[in-house]
Amino acid sequence: MIGTMAFDLSRIPADFFEDPFPYYASLLDGPPFMFQEDGSVLISRHALLSAVYKDVNGFSSDKKLSFGPKFGVDSRLYEHHTNSLVFNDPPLHTRVRKIITGALNPRAIRVMEPGLRRTISILLERMGKKNAQTGSVDIIEDFASQIPIQIIGDLLGIPFDERDPLRDWSLAILGALEPTVSEPQMEIGNEAVEEFQSYLRTLVEVRKKEKKDPETDVLTRLIVAQGAAELSETELLQNCIFILNAGHETTTNLIGNALFMLWRHPDQKVLLLDEPDLIDGAVEEVLRTQSPNQFGNRQTTKLIEIDGLVLKKDVNIHMCIGAANRDPDVFEKPNMFNIRRKNARNHLGFAAGPHVCVGLTLARLEAKIAVTEFLKRFGGYIIKDYSFISKRVRFRGFVSLPASL
Ligand code: HEM
Repeated sequence: MIGTMAFDLSRIPADFFEDPFPYYASLLDGPPFMFQEDGSVLISRHALLSAVYKDVNGFSSDKKLSFGPKFGVDSRLYEHHTNSLVFNDPPLHTRVRKIITGALNPRAIRVMEPGLRRTISILLERMGKKNAQTGSVDIIEDFASQIPIQIIGDLLGIPFDERDPLRDWSLAILGALEPTVSEPQMEIGNEAVEEFQSYLRTLVEVRKKEKKDPETDVLTRLIVAQGAAELSETELLQNCIFILNAGHETTTNLIGNALFMLWRHPDQKVLLLDEPDLIDGAVEEVLRTQSPNQFGNRQTTKLIEIDGLVLKKDVNIHMCIGAANRDPDVFEKPNMFNIRRKNARNHLGFAAGPHVCVGLTLARLEAKIAVTEFLKRFGGYIIKDYSFISKRVRFRGFVSLPASL
């Protein structure tokens, strides 16, 4: 039995990473607010998270107050995260969001689809060969992680042969967002921002001379906005870095988690093979039960009452998306993986309110095509080892997923 009072994000139990769900169930069973040792508050109920996400007057996304002591105000990580739209309120948030949204609307995404299908088909072909030669592939390394790198590489117009370091930069920068971060992790994160930024500076200089189509090229859109004085150079560079980070690990994890869940639930895999149109429901059910983002944060902007509790100004709130997605008040038999579930789409895997994920249509499309094509070709795949779960609190996914096809 897990005591609800014992759960504190600064002291995560060792078995949490592999199976956080009993802890979430215990949180959902307990009081709505779980105070943490540092004075912050953890919330887990779906209704409460939805209310906080939508109340932008009462809850801020600005993280300067907590990132200052965490990263040091002179650090690269601080500069990066505090300039990203996700950790800002209006006006910066509104300005940057408008610029990015234009290149991620359904029409722009339709333009990306043929390239996405080509990438997936090449990866499947390569995996088939590797499997024939070695009897094994890695679903993460050889497939899931390759798809978003190419998609976001295209979105920012990063030349094909310069995409290799992107994944490691992204992992290092996002790793520094964990509730507790070691000195070496912090150093790697700061170096990653530095290297990424200097790479982007050159890319921006080249793109300024040879602009691409602003309808589809996010970097050109940001450069045009900088020219019109809507963005500073720092804001431009840091938001480019953020787009890569936002769309990379999350989508890798969505595809990896989907293939893991379908293998773990063979009846659901058979159902999907029989009725491929269920793919939308399958992707939503993976987002609900194994959301790549397990935690978000908000901060109170004033003395505020919520669900009967009065909170002071500047209280940090941990939003447990992973628990809210299994709230029995919203989802019947919440721990059951059911690709026919009618209301799976009510999950909070993409958050809600004005910061709701900008890339959600793209992420869904990447996962739908990747899983459908993978199953068509390798429907009998076997996962050989699922112990390499990433030891992260905020992000859920596998570092490696060895399989035979
Ligand atoms: C399965 C994949 C994905 C998941 C689970 C995911 C999840 C999220 C979540 C939870 C947020 C809100 C964070 C918060 O406010 O606390 C967010 C924001 C964001 N995401 Fe995603 N995301 C995914 C894929 C993508 C992709 C592919 C892109 C772009 C190419 C993207 C771009 C963004 C951006 C720009 C924001 C900031 C929005 C804002 O602050 O207004 N995401 N995402």
